[in-house]
Amino acid sequence: MDLSYKSAIDVTEFQQRRVRLGAQLQNHSALLVFSNQEQRRNNSNTYPFRQDSYFWYLTGFNEPDSALLIQRHDDTTTATVFLRPSDPLMETWNGRRLGVDNAPGKLLIDNAFSIDEIATQLPKLLSGATALYHAPDLQPWGDDITHAALRHLREHARQGLKAPATLIDWRPLVDEMRLFKSPAEIALMQQAGQITALGHIRAMKAARANRFEYELESELLHEFTRFGARFPSYNSIVASGENACILHYTENESPLRDGDLVMIDAGAEFAMYAGDISRTFPVNGRFSPEQRAIYDIVLRAEKRAIELYVPGNSIKQANLEVLRIMLSGLIELGIIQGEVEQLIEEKAYLPFYMHGLGHWLGLDVHDVGDYGCERDRTFEPNMVLTVEPGLYLSEKLDIPAQYKGIGVRIEDNILITETGNKILTAAVPKEADDIERLMQSAETSDAQQPTL
Ligand code: GLY
Ligand code: MN
Ligand code: MN
Repeated sequence: MDLSYKSAIDVTEFQQRRVRLGAQLQNHSALLVFSNQEQRRNNSNTYPFRQDSYFWYLTGFNEPDSALLIQRHDDTTTATVFLRPSDPLMETWNGRRLGVDNAPGKLLIDNAFSIDEIATQLPKLLSGATALYHAPDLQPWGDDITHAALRHLREHARQGLKAPATLIDWRPLVDEMRLFKSPAEIALMQQAGQITALGHIRAMKAARANRFEYELESELLHEFTRFGARFPSYNSIVASGENACILHYTENESPLRDGDLVMIDAGAEFAMYAGDISRTFPVNGRFSPEQRAIYDIVLRAEKRAIELYVPGNSIKQANLEVLRIMLSGLIELGIIQGEVEQLIEEKAYLPFYMHGLGHWLGLDVHDVGDYGCERDRTFEPNMVLTVEPGLYLSEKLDIPAQYKGIGVRIEDNILITETGNKILTAAVPKEADDIERLMQSAETSDAQQPTL
């Protein structure tokens, strides 16, 4: 696969999204979306800037302190962007800005104003609108601007200004659009999946007793970064031994112990799209019989769930099969007693498997989109989601001693297609034999690690 950064989304696709959204709005209404702002990390340092996913989805514009206004009038959708003005001094210190004059042409947006003018322009642009679509609590600075504009309109009713009578949350509309990925988005998600897979392979090869979890994290980040995925799509989880029983363990500071498993849940963010893979493997390159037994139960469940990730099925249906497979396996090993359907009824799996089977994936790792009641929304082509069963046999549980401290999660990213599905993350091995082979091949070619 070609991993170059070349299939980024064309500016016309962002424009078409605005038109599609505009067509769903009430006539003579307006919609506001705000960007992220820089976040202070400490003193004069900021966190690396990451655009708000909604704002990105509708603009493809990657600067902070920006806002998008969409207005619908009959068959016409007008888009206006507010953005930071050009400022040679600020740009010399902190980086280039698109600027007001360039914005319409570059973003295919009808009008552009400086963000410094939003307080004066917005009341004029919103006056007389039938409804205002706004997503409260998403960007507090945007809430302040929106509320101030509405207050201004109400306070100037006698001067002929008119506030929209209705406020509507636009998220249900945009979430539904984001749930179905375009061909260009799918191409980027395939690349995110591929880069994520390469990171996991590199981390697996680097595992050795007495290295630290953070050393494996560094291998992931190295591989992500060298393919242009400069940030992970969430904080990487490198969890060895009992740490794997903490679902979102991110300290990543323990030494890897000979005889333990290590569970990595990490994803590359490529061109704003998330990968999200989990793999579990033995620190020393060989599964113990007990580890292998648990591992193979989870793998069987994951593979069966993928078979069920096809149009017409749902996460709920697939999860029921996963529960049956995992509970039968645990009963066979003597870890739990009872009858499968009864144990499901009683939710007796919760001490061992306490999270959902999967989630939508896209610009956000936990992407937006309605799940239906109890995750029974049926799959349709061009949805992308994760499949991630796990078994977590914590030391704290009352189970046979030889299984304690084994935590396994196996996670892939699945594109639903017309005829079934495509695994976007298939490049990283998950059969226990294949993992052992990969790790042993790395051991024999292990170069001396430099020390500080
Ligand atoms: N990495 C978070 C999750 O798998 O949901
Ligand atoms: Mn994950
Ligand atoms: Mn996930």
